[in-house]
Amino acid sequence: MIHNIVKIFLLFLLIKIEIFNADARRCVFADEKVHIINRLPSNSSRLKVHCQSKDDDLGYHILKPNDDYNWSFCDNIFATSLFFCHLWWGKKDIAFDAFKARWFEGERDQVYWVAKKDGIYYTDVRPIEGFLEKKFNWKK
Ligand SMILES: *[C@@H]1O[C@H](CO)[C@@H](O)[C@H](O)[C@H]1NC(C)=O
Ligand SMILES: *[C@@H]1O[C@H](CO)[C@@H](O)[C@H](O)[C@H]1NC(C)=O
Repeated sequence: MIHNIVKIFLLFLLIKIEIFNADARRCVFADEKVHIINRLPSNSSRLKVHCQSKDDDLGYHILKPNDDYNWSFCDNIFATSLFFCHLWWGKKDIAFDAFKARWFEGERDQVYWVAKKDGIYYTDVRPIEGFLEKKFNWKK
């Protein structure tokens, strides 16, 4: 009797772990996604983006208007991930920390950086258009 209860419990645990793994993909801790979105005027220069962390250089990317350049990563247990981005638009540019780790509840967290004519906007709430907050001006 006790044996059967233990077996059922273990089976249940195994199923739970399977489901949890399928859901959580490969991230043990926070699963993060960073977006860089081009909302610059369509008749202007393309947006050039270069992002990197201490360990990963994501290379240079050229964004057309309305392009969403994004990447995902798993944060570590100490939540120390840091991504740094440099954006160029014609003769203007700006560099900033695009992701500074913090603790999350486990669901994929997404942060959005939106390049507009007058500067760089940020939000981590969707729909993004309703929550954009200006963070930086372009440097000339
Ligand atoms: C782009 O278009 C806007 C109006 O649609 C105009 O004011 C601006 O001068 C144009 N910019 C360029 C670089 O052509
Ligand atoms: C994210 O990037 C992929 C290409 O890597 C692109 O297909 C997709 O539209 C982008 N946007 C979102 C919201 O995922």
